Amino acid sequence: MKKILAFGASNSSRSINKTFATYVANQLNSVEVNLIDLNDLEMPIYSIDREEADGIPELAHRFRQLVAESDGIVVSFAEHNGSYAVAFKNIYDWASRIDGNVWAGKPLFLLATSPGGLGGKFVLEAATNRFSFQYEAPIVTFSLPSFQKNFSAEDGVIEPTLKATLSEKVAVFQKALDA
Ligand SMILES: Cc1cc2nc3c(=O)[nH]c(=O)nc-3n(C[C@H](O)[C@H](O)[C@H](O)COP(=O)(O)O)c2cc1C
Repeated sequence: MKKILAFGASNSSRSINKTFATYVANQLNSVEVNLIDLNDLEMPIYSIDREEADGIPELAHRFRQLVAESDGIVVSFAEHNGSYAVAFKNIYDWASRIDGNVWAGKPLFLLATSPGGLGGKFVLEAATNRFSFQYEAPIVTFSLPSFQKNFSAEDGVIEPTLKATLSEKVAVFQKALDA
């Protein structure tokens, strides 16, 4: 059975992105989902001075290990002022100091959602641009606008067009996983 590492790129205890990443990961067939909470990977804010003085925190190695143990990553990004939430960026920065290939060539399902109508479009673009640079493995992306309107806890994505598009993307990611 394939292993999926899933998380919301947020440290909110009520994270809609964690909810959404969980939902999407659970749409995949025959996978074991390892859902992590970024609060469990909180480290000092990255600085070159800290790195030189104390080295790279064990939790950054732990994050890389979680990636290495997986066959694919499902992540949904919270958008803060048009970019990554600090909780994610800090982990990413520390992890990138161990090896710039943070995602270790695993297939990526990059998602974003927000309460607003743009659905985290800017952070999703930033992530897609960054992570696709010299990356061989498939990258699938999807943004869900207006989370509270388009998603229900019981039924998941309820807006028909968005639901259909997401189903297609899930199928593409499933194919990448099974390849
Ligand atoms: C500091 C801050 C900045 C935000 N900036 C944006 C933004 O640029 N675009 C957006 O769509 N939502 C923005 N929001 C609203 C977030 O999308 C919303 O809080 C969402 O719930 C975050 O995802 P999460 O619940 O997974 O943490 C911002 C929220 C905060 C607290």
